[in-house]
Amino acid sequence: MKTYQLAVMKGDGIGPEIVDECIKVLDRVGARFGFGFAYQSCLMGGCAIDATGVPLPDETVRICKAGDAVLLGAVGGVKWDTLPGHLRPEAGLLGIRAALGLYANLRPAKIFEPLRGASPIREDIIGEGLDIMVVRELTGGIYFGARGRREEGGVPGAYDTESYTVPEIERIARVGFTLAQQRSGRLCSVDKANVLESSRLWRETVNRLAREYPGVALSHMYVDNCAMQLVRNPGQFDVIVTSNLFGDILSDEASMISGSIGMLASASLGDSSNGGGSFGLYEPIHGSAPDIAGQGVANPLATILSGAMLLRYTLGEPAAADAIEAAVNRVLAEKRTPDIWQQGYEKCGTAAMGDAVAAALNG
Ligand code: IPM
Ligand code: MG
Repeated sequence: MKTYQLAVMKGDGIGPEIVDECIKVLDRVGARFGFGFAYQSCLMGGCAIDATGVPLPDETVRICKAGDAVLLGAVGGVKWDTLPGHLRPEAGLLGIRAALGLYANLRPAKIFEPLRGASPIREDIIGEGLDIMVVRELTGGIYFGARGRREEGGVPGAYDTESYTVPEIERIARVGFTLAQQRSGRLCSVDKANVLESSRLWRETVNRLAREYPGVALSHMYVDNCAMQLVRNPGQFDVIVTSNLFGDILSDEASMISGSIGMLASASLGDSSNGGGSFGLYEPIHGSAPDIAGQGVANPLATILSGAMLLRYTLGEPAAADAIEAAVNRVLAEKRTPDIWQQGYEKCGTAAMGDAVAAALNG
C-alpha cells in the first residue's frame, strides 16, 4: 500500500482541533481508496516560540522539505502579539512559505449549495454556482520588502516596500493563465496600475504573457474596483491573479461570499505549480481563532477541504479529493457548526463534524 509522508503543523488556537479532524478524514479516505499516511508533527508559530524561542525552527523546515506535502492548522494569538515583528507567529508562516518556495497561493471561494442561505450576500446577487479561484502571489511584494522605522522631517515614521521582479510576476501569472485554461477560460489580473509603478510592471508583464495563452480571455481590474465588484456581481469572476497584499485582502472578502470563512481551503504551491502535481502546503484560510480555542466548536471543514486540495494538487488522488468534497456537501445538509448554523439543522461541534464527514465517505 502506498504511504504518503505528511508534515503536520497544527499551530496555535483552534489549529490542533481542526487538524485532528482533517487527519481523521484523510485516514478514512485513504482506507477507502487504498493508500495510507504517515504524519510527522512539527512546530511553527506561537507553539514554536514557546518551545524553542523562534517561530520557525530549522527542524520544522527540514521536516517539511522531507514530506510529500505539508498540512497546517493556523498560527497566532494575543499571547505573542507584543513580540517584535521577526519573532511573531506570523513571521513563521511567511518564513515557511519562503523557505519552501511556495509562491502560488490558490484560494478557491466556492458556494456550497447547502450553505447558500448562510452567505451575507443576497441569493440573486450570488447567482448560480459561484466558483472563484483567487491566485495570490505569496513570496514577494510588500510582505517581503524592506521595512523599518525612520524619521521623516524630524517626526517619527515607518515604511514598507512593494516591489516585484519580472520573473516573479511571470511565474504567478502563468499559474493564473493555466488555471484559467483548465476552468472557464477567464482570467482577471488585479492591480493598482493607476498609482503604483510595481503594478504597471505587473500589468505589462501579464499582457505580454497573454499572447502565449490565446484561449484565455484576460481582463485587468484595479483592486478597489475589484473589492466592490466582488460584492456587486461576484459571478463575473473565474480566476483572479494578484499580488501578495491584494490577494490577502481580496481572498478574505471572496471567502465571505461563500457563507463562512470557516469553509475555505487553500493551497500554497511551489515550482511546477501549474495546477497540479507539485509540492505544497495546505491550510484553511481562516486564522487561529483564540477566542474559541479549546471549546470544541470550531468549524473543521476548511481544514478538511484543504486535505482534499492536498490530494488533488500534490498527491494526484482526484477521486479521493472528490469523495471528501461530496461528503462535506452531504453532511452540510444535516449538521452545522455554530459559525454556519441555521434554524432547522443539527448544531454540532468540531469532532462531531469530523466524524460525520468521515462516516459520509463510506456512503
Ligand atoms: C493569510 C494570513 C497571513 C497572510 C498572515 C497571518 C501573515 O492573513 O494567510 O492570509 O497575510 O498571509
Ligand atoms: Mg489573510
